[in-house]
Amino acid sequence: MAAMWALFVMTFAMILGNSAADPDMLQDICVADYASAVKVNGFACKDEAKATAEDFFFAGLAKPGLTNNTFGSLVTLANVQKIPGLNTLGVSLARIDYAPGGINPPHTHPRATEIVFVLEGSLDVGFITTANKLISKTIVKGDVYVFPKGLVHFQKNNGKVPAAVIAGFNSQLQGTANIALTLFAATPPVSNDVLTSTFMVGNKEIDMIKGKLAPKA
Ligand SMILES: *[C@@H]1O[C@H](CO)[C@@H](O)[C@H](O)[C@H]1NC(C)=O
Repeated sequence: MAAMWALFVMTFAMILGNSAADPDMLQDICVADYASAVKVNGFACKDEAKATAEDFFFAGLAKPGLTNNTFGSLVTLANVQKIPGLNTLGVSLARIDYAPGGINPPHTHPRATEIVFVLEGSLDVGFITTANKLISKTIVKGDVYVFPKGLVHFQKNNGKVPAAVIAGFNSQLQGTANIALTLFAATPPVSNDVLTSTFMVGNKEIDMIKGKLAPKA
């Protein structure tokens, strides 16, 4: 399985690293109007006279997220989809909780660099450059680590107690491409023809991974 993960990461590291930052704002505030039918880059602004403190507030990172799932981790986003006042501001946060043994599997953020601060516990973290060099470290409570924009990265809790981080992004909506899910759980599916050639294994191995990663009904 470790060899499989290495293959996923190698494949994607080659095609990443070419993305732009959020554009600069052109006014003080542009609270997202989720209901607007106008399609723009981001969300249309609601009437500034109707902006309130609630548009700039979110309490959803205060408590640990539930980690009793397949990967033993949960990402709680505090982005423009949760905080309408973030629209056009180019930043967002997340909280990530990890059970002992839990992993936030290899993934990329096409629109943002990520910087994490460890609230609790310890994590083995790393990213892979487009030259295919792994840059990794064990980080503990109070530490900060950076995952450069577009690069494949991961965090794993190899400790005996839960871990948690606060993550900052230089995008209002960083976007996440999970390597394993992108390749093995897309809808419609990526064909086995592509995957057997890519990973140099047979249909049996590809079907096994697709079965394990299939969305639970
Ligand atoms: C996870 O734990 C919560 C709270 O204890 C529970 O309500 C939920 O059903 C659990 N989920 C799974 C998938 O076990």
